[in-house]
Amino acid sequence: MRIGVLTGGGDCPGLNAVIRAVVRKGVASYGHEFVGFRDGWKGPLEGLSRPLGIAEVRGILPRGGTILGSSRTNPFKIENGVERIKENLAAQGVDALIAIGGEDTLGVATKLHELGVNVIGVPKTIDNDLGATDYTFGFDTAVNIAMEAIDRLHTTAESHHRTLVVEVMGRHAGWIALHAGLAGGANVILLPERQFDVEQVAGYVEKRFQHQYAPIVVVAEGAQPLEGQMVLQNQELDSFGHVRLGGIGQWLAEQLEAKTGKEARTVVLGHIQRGGTPTAFDRVLATRLGLQAIDAVHEGDWGKMVAMQSTDIVRVPLAEATRELKTVPLERYAEAEVFFGS
Ligand code: F6P
Repeated sequence: MRIGVLTGGGDCPGLNAVIRAVVRKGVASYGHEFVGFRDGWKGPLEGLSRPLGIAEVRGILPRGGTILGSSRTNPFKIENGVERIKENLAAQGVDALIAIGGEDTLGVATKLHELGVNVIGVPKTIDNDLGATDYTFGFDTAVNIAMEAIDRLHTTAESHHRTLVVEVMGRHAGWIALHAGLAGGANVILLPERQFDVEQVAGYVEKRFQHQYAPIVVVAEGAQPLEGQMVLQNQELDSFGHVRLGGIGQWLAEQLEAKTGKEARTVVLGHIQRGGTPTAFDRVLATRLGLQAIDAVHEGDWGKMVAMQSTDIVRVPLAEATRELKTVPLERYAEAEVFFGS
């Protein structure tokens, strides 16, 4: 078989580990050939490809990013997008596709499968918000980066008796904020799943100062205050209809400074959380998902997504995996609330 591989959506540490595992097992165990499609769905849409063999995947296991490039191109928003993909796959002699991506990329994979394209999905996102898999690779790395930042911010916040607001990624789901905040001992954690009362947050901050410690507030970029509108830097939508987030941390710091009379600063971790080398957990998870994906292709088990359930790597229907986002249950948030303001 000749198999196309692509990575779509926001990049994430571990993508290269998946590509390596797919190609290594595909060539060594099954004798398949590979072609790398560039920049997500843009690759098959425009016929942009590159060679992908054992030589090309040597040395990439610890590398962040993706050797294939990525984009947020949505072929369903482009005239004759699906026909163009089918034509390009046929022109390059590609029998099947492995699509590595999050909700948007896998949503496209789901529809293409229904339209007769042989496709297998591999879940990725630092946000950990895909259904049907307990974890996505990239999440552990992002959490560790954010935790280390919080550890460092504690010491400087104490020295200057300041509030430090740390804005982390998480558009619709607050998994990074919850885990990094718990691991880093944040005094308040704010998630997109529950609107927050800025007066209550100011109360937690005051209380922390009363204990002679400086507060760290971790806020997910998609968190919203009770009073109303999400705070956005930019109202532009991408081709999957998402706004570009960022700005809640700055807004919150201004509010907290005004309400508590204590200096408050913001740190936006942004793409630092997505860059660099994956943790051991993410390398192993990505590798195991890649091995299962090539097995699924070899068996012609189309329309499946590989997933981690408990410690097993299983296959689930793509449609099931992309049906709804996995957000933080309020009981999990309640566990963290015990530590707020103390
Ligand atoms: O989905 C992953 C993610 O990192 C989100 O946490 C974030 O909202 C988004 O991507 C940012 O995307 P971009 O890099 O395209 O601005």
